[in-house]
Amino acid sequence: MKITAALAATVLGFASALPATQQQSPAKRQTQGVVNNCSKPSTMAITYDDGPYQWDYNVNDQFNAVNGKTTYFVNGYNWGCIYSEENVSHLRALYENGHQIASHTWGHVHLTQLTNEEIDTQVQLVEDALWKILGVVPKYIRPPYGEVDDRVVQHLHDRWGLVVVNWSDDSQDALGASDQEILDMYNGFAADSSQSHLVLNHAVHEPASHLPQIYVPQMQNAGYSLETVASCLNDNPYKVVGGYSPRDDSWTCVGTPEPGAAQ
Ligand SMILES: *[C@@H]1O[C@H](CO)[C@@H](O)[C@H](O)[C@H]1NC(C)=O
Ligand SMILES: *[C@@H]1O[C@H](CO)[C@@H](O)[C@H](O)[C@H]1NC(C)=O
Ligand SMILES: *[C@@H]1O[C@H](CO)[C@@H](O)[C@H](O)[C@H]1NC(C)=O
Ligand SMILES: [Zn+2]
Repeated sequence: MKITAALAATVLGFASALPATQQQSPAKRQTQGVVNNCSKPSTMAITYDDGPYQWDYNVNDQFNAVNGKTTYFVNGYNWGCIYSEENVSHLRALYENGHQIASHTWGHVHLTQLTNEEIDTQVQLVEDALWKILGVVPKYIRPPYGEVDDRVVQHLHDRWGLVVVNWSDDSQDALGASDQEILDMYNGFAADSSQSHLVLNHAVHEPASHLPQIYVPQMQNAGYSLETVASCLNDNPYKVVGGYSPRDDSWTCVGTPEPGAAQ
């Protein structure tokens, strides 16, 4: 019943399928329909891509310790399968702690190289998985590599009602930045908390295992409000909200498109 509702919402186009009360006003957008910053002053949306992954637990603990919120842009089938027991309990813990769960495509693909139909598969599979696992349909997507063009952005908006998010600042953890280089970036932010920032980090790179305990409390003490991406844009994180579903035979990555990349 719930799955049918979610599928209907996505297949028919969410704007027409959702009751008016669940429709959200569009988030503030920049650069050809792509959001790359928070719209509320003194807010910081610190984000983590490419999970669920083991280091999400550390990130989760550090944000919870200061009552801050974060955002995870997750894949379905990249380093492993989102439907594994471990990943399912993991995602539910992050979600129950009030963090935002958003899409990063099923297989971490280069969206600009796909047809609209292939993009639909990449979006639909993540929506189905998060609907089954969490009972939510994400409203936000971050394109892998920050790669979108006008066609892709327009398709994600018009066909899926998605808000496309890039970032204002890159920790460069995926590019091999040292611990000190990453902390220097955050130290720079601490100098002026009247600014806002939307910061890219990765859950699958080793800095996530031990640096959040330093910079998360530091950013809060500097005066930033640590918020989810949706919250720092005064928006809702999900197109649809329901409840968890029980596991069944459809909870598998077998038969879905292969991962596009390992990071
Ligand atoms: C799922 O779990 C495995 C370990 O079981 C992990 O390596 C992987 O990163 C997780 N996430 C995804 C999206 O596969
Ligand atoms: C996302 O940010 C990166 C780094 O600034 C940039 O290279 C890329 O073009 C951006 N993508 C979009 C769609 O703005
Ligand atoms: C993000 O917004 C702040 C204002 O709050 C601005 O100072 C900063 O330059 C913006 N960053 C980018 C990359 O647009
Ligand atoms: Zn990524």
